[in-house]
This record gives sequence, C-alpha cells and structure tokens, in this order.
Amino acid sequence: MKSMPDPYHVVAGSGDRIKLADGRWLIDAISSWWCMIHGYAHPDIVASMVDQVERLPHVMLGGLVHDPALQLAQTLAQWLPGRLNHVFYSDSGSVGVEVAIKMAIQYFINSGVPGRNKIAFLTGAYHGDTTGAMSVCDPDDGMHQMFASLLPVHRQLPRPPKLGVDASEYLGRIEQILMSDTSIAAIIIEPVMQGAGGFYLYDPSVLKGFRLLCDRFEILLIADEVATGFGRLGRWFGVDFGPIVPDIMVLGKGLTGGHIGLAATVATDDVFDRFYTDNSRNALMHGPTFMGNPIACRAALASINLLTNTTLIQISAVENQLRQLIELNDLPHVTDVRVMGALGVVEVNDPMVLDGLTAFAVDRGVWLRPFGTVVYTTPPFGISQSNLQRVIDVIREWFEHY
Ligand SMILES: Cc1ncc(COP(=O)(O)O)c(C=O)c1O
Repeated sequence: MKSMPDPYHVVAGSGDRIKLADGRWLIDAISSWWCMIHGYAHPDIVASMVDQVERLPHVMLGGLVHDPALQLAQTLAQWLPGRLNHVFYSDSGSVGVEVAIKMAIQYFINSGVPGRNKIAFLTGAYHGDTTGAMSVCDPDDGMHQMFASLLPVHRQLPRPPKLGVDASEYLGRIEQILMSDTSIAAIIIEPVMQGAGGFYLYDPSVLKGFRLLCDRFEILLIADEVATGFGRLGRWFGVDFGPIVPDIMVLGKGLTGGHIGLAATVATDDVFDRFYTDNSRNALMHGPTFMGNPIACRAALASINLLTNTTLIQISAVENQLRQLIELNDLPHVTDVRVMGALGVVEVNDPMVLDGLTAFAVDRGVWLRPFGTVVYTTPPFGISQSNLQRVIDVIREWFEHY
C-alpha cells in the first residue's frame, strides 16, 4: 500500500535475530510468521541443507523416490499419533490444505458413498490463501470476502466457546447440524488455537467432541496443524490437548524449522486404503513439481531431530516469562491477554491502538507486526531470557506510551 512505510530490508538472520541492511539487529518476536522455531540459520539445519544441495537439490517425486522423502515420511509416521502413517508432500500450508480437502472428498467417492462433497469449517478459521483453502476460511472476517463469487460454498459451523467455557451446548449444536446435513464429508479445524483468525483459544474438550461426532456420523476429521504443530502451544501438536487422532493432519511452517517451504498432508491407514487400489481412478490426482523436495525434507529431518524434551522445557520457560503480559489486562484499551506455550497475545478494542507499533518496536530493536486488534509474540523456542524480556518490555512500553 502506498500509505505503508517501505519494508525493512533484511540481509541476515542468526538465532533469534534478523539483521537489517543499515546494520541494526532486531529480535524477531514473531519467528517469521511463527515458523522459525529454532531461530535463523540453525547450524544443524543449514548443514543438512547444504549437504543435500550438493548431492541432489531436486528430483521429481513421480515414479521416483529418494531417501530424504522416505526417511521423513517414516519419521512422521513414527512420531504422529494413531495410524497417521501416510504422507503426501507439497510446498506450503495452503497447498497442504488443498490436498486434505481433495482427499476428504475423494475418500467418499472412492468408497462409493455419493453426495458427501462439502467440508465443514469453523467461524474464525484460516486455512490459507489458495482457492480451495480460502473456501474453508471464515468468509466474513477473513481476507477473502471479495472472492466469494469464485469460491465453492462449504458448510460454516459456529466458533467453539473460548478456552475455559463449557462446550457441551456448543457440541449439541454441531450434532444437530451434522444430523441434518448429509453433504458433509469432513470437518476441518485448527486444533485449540485459530491462528490468523486472531489467535483465538478454545477449549480442548471440543476436540474430543469433534472426534466423537465424526466417528458417529462416519465423516473425516482434518486437523490443520500448520500453525499449532511442532510445539508452539506447549505440546507437540494441538490434537495432543484432546488427545485425539484426526483422520488427516496438515503440517507446514515449523516442519522445516521455517528454513524452507514444505508441507505434509498425513493420512491414516483407513484413508490411504481407499486410494491405494488396483483402480487408477482411485489415485489422488495431485502432483506438484516440487513435491517432497529433498533439501526441504533434509531440513525437516534436521529440525525434528532438534525437538526433544528439552525443547518442551524451553517452551514452558517461555510461557512462564510471557505470563508477565497478563498484567496488561488492566489497561484501558486492552480487552484480553492470552498466553499458551510460546504464544503471547494482547487484544485491544480498536486496531488504531496498534497503529505505529511496528516502527516503535523497530526503534527499540524488536520485530513485531500486529494484525487487526492483536499484537502477539511467537518467538523462537530458544529465545534468550533477556531478548524475550526486551520483547515483553517493548509491548508494555507501547501501551504505557499510548
Ligand atoms: C492454520 C493455517 N493453515 C494454513 C496456513 C497456510 O500456510 P502457508 O502460508 O504456508 O500457505 C496457515 C498460514 O498461516 C495457517 O496458519
């Protein structure tokens, strides 16, 4: 936008900081849209990527396969709960969601069940910017309202009550909808936290409720873990808060430690078996050129290797420190403060209250980028205590200054 300041020019990144062309270093309080979970240029991830560039930077994944793709699929299958054993690669979270939608619709076609061709999505949802993904985002609050005429119409469900509020009545409403609408093939959710929909946290009991309802009505549950996966909320995956096992899970962002684009749409044995038959019409028709890129798979393997129990302890330390933000709840413009894992959110009553915050923070050595009525921090898990304190202090100073 002409009215926006020019972007800050970044020349390097290291650990929890990025370097601007004018020589300033900024603490990245939002990990490049929440993906840089180990910080920038982690030596293990970089070394794996460099090694792979020299061996085989890319090869098509049609009729050919390579070790990094196989090893990553095995690693994910071993790690993920239940029978989530089959991995389909693509290059971004949005495309990973497209694949999940196609899988869910085709699951019923391949099973010979006619008419189940709609996806149910939650009010407040965000699942990406490509056309299919847009069609399961909140149609009013999202960024896609102007494309309404282009998008297939799916089934919008109400938003779950916020964290801490009993969800039984809500689940009763969902049950009524599922009973009356036999066109629904799957429910897609962002487990526990709706990210781009304003970092909205809802009660984990809803996860079990969705799982039971999907089982009862014999439809699929898709967990979009693009934002919640790999520890952001303090457990490895959002579904672990249930705990539940979805039929399809979408992973992205932190999958490669944020170092390069890669997504994985992971399906259970039951879903996979409907596609893996002698009939070529049952195959999943999706084959992106850069599917399963070996450099990206190596980055993911290195990143996953870095995720140990120590990481969960780090995240819990970040959470404890972020709890200082809760004091801001008493300030006049602040309507809510929420902290979960390595996520801290301050919500205000008017987006104007956050106008100018980015430049204010940059002047104080911190990169923050509020959207709508929220300013949030999603730091790398290993952020130093002093740098995290700087982030918290800058947010606090903004409200004191306002
Ligand atoms: C829950 C969720 N799903 C999907 C996406 C889309 O991912 P990408 O931006 O990699 O296409 C995002 C991005 O923010 C997301 O938060």
